[in-house]
Amino acid sequence: MAINAPEGTRDLLPDEALFWNHFKQTAAEVFGRYGYLPIETPVMEQTELFVRGIGEATDVVSKEMFTAVSGENLKRLLDGGTIKAKSRLSLRPEGTAGVVRAVVQHDLVPQGAAPAKLMYAGPMFRAERPQKGRQRQFNQVGVECLGAEAPSIDAEAIIMLMRFFEKVGIPASSMELLVNSMGCEKCRPAYRELVRAYLEEHADELCETCMTRAEINPLRAFDCKKEGCAAVMEGAPKITDHLCDDCRQHYADVLALLDGAGVAYAEDPTLVRGLDYYTRTVFEVQASDGLGSQNAIGGGGRYDKLAEEVGGRPTPGLGFALGFERCVLALEAAGVEFPKAQRCDLFVACVDDSVRGRAFALVQECRDAGFATEMDHQKRSLKSQFKLADKLGAARVAVLGPDELAEGVVTLRDMAAHTEAKVRLEEVVGELGRAIL
Ligand code: HAM
Repeated sequence: MAINAPEGTRDLLPDEALFWNHFKQTAAEVFGRYGYLPIETPVMEQTELFVRGIGEATDVVSKEMFTAVSGENLKRLLDGGTIKAKSRLSLRPEGTAGVVRAVVQHDLVPQGAAPAKLMYAGPMFRAERPQKGRQRQFNQVGVECLGAEAPSIDAEAIIMLMRFFEKVGIPASSMELLVNSMGCEKCRPAYRELVRAYLEEHADELCETCMTRAEINPLRAFDCKKEGCAAVMEGAPKITDHLCDDCRQHYADVLALLDGAGVAYAEDPTLVRGLDYYTRTVFEVQASDGLGSQNAIGGGGRYDKLAEEVGGRPTPGLGFALGFERCVLALEAAGVEFPKAQRCDLFVACVDDSVRGRAFALVQECRDAGFATEMDHQKRSLKSQFKLADKLGAARVAVLGPDELAEGVVTLRDMAAHTEAKVRLEEVVGELGRAIL
């Protein structure tokens, strides 16, 4: 039996892989204008990093992590033994914890330094139940800014995220930006107790998962998709009514900067996000079509305590990540065509086999001169070579037959203008250069 890709994973076939490259390049171009530089961290980290950073009680850590064990350690575990803490590894379910770990490890924000602005793109792994827009391996593009607490950092990141979506082709009318503040370690504990008490008052109307959540992290009940729970949570106390003065001011400043920049948003006091590290500003962009319940195409927020959680000095932080595959679904739903990234400047067609050797050499000369050039390798008829050239979108076709070869020329056809001319073999490169410039 043939072996397929693992459940919840997808191959990016050439068209989509080309679009992924374009997506990453667009991100580097847009985020680069805001001072973000690339960083690459391992796809595997010590499990402890995610437990401490993302939170032991989150779904991502408690249910969805893929643990990576070497063959030797697996044998040890199966034999009932134990392995060293540093050998407990997990595939990254998200990028923030790894980037913050790298910032701390390499002291990228020494005291008094300018903030470190970092961006990354790559695969993340979550053992979720696969469905449309929800995979077990998916690609994210993300940014993290460490070392600045100012609301202008939050606002510029949100503006940058919306600029990126526009640049990549997602129409503003088919997405909505939601924002909220989650408070800080001063105001959130009291608010959390209020929500816990509220959940207990409504215990008989809530599902079992929400009641279990009431014990560990009552705010997660805001994320429950069940109708009954959602109705109860509508009446729950809202964090924005319980922020301390500093958090209220910070949130107001972020909103004022977004207003000033003309960025449309909706405040959503029930937006809590699924990762435990958030403090103050959180935001999410939801697509209106094509994604069903998995409609978040990007999200993020501030995490001023995360660096300390992973053993660093106090360093405020903020970032976001967006899901490539969900963006593709949103683009398809909006009827946006992917830009064709492949180009073919010249197709060299052979009239018969006797000219293949010279045609091969010509193709190579053109490629070496920087032109995307193709030829047939399957002994097709001249007619079907033209069809292939058409399919590849070739701008020009050079026809080489025994007569042309004897004369030392090719017949060069401009496919768009439907014109052709004889060009000397040694002048094909120069002619392509003139035509393309
Ligand atoms: P997140 O909301 O968990 O945040 O993920 C960000 C985006 O990744 C989501 O909005 C979604 O587009 C995509 N995504 C998440 N899970 C899946 C999945 N199973 N299948 C397909 N796409 C998915 C984070 O990961 C945070 N690290 C964001 C952040 C950066 N916060 C601060 N800095």
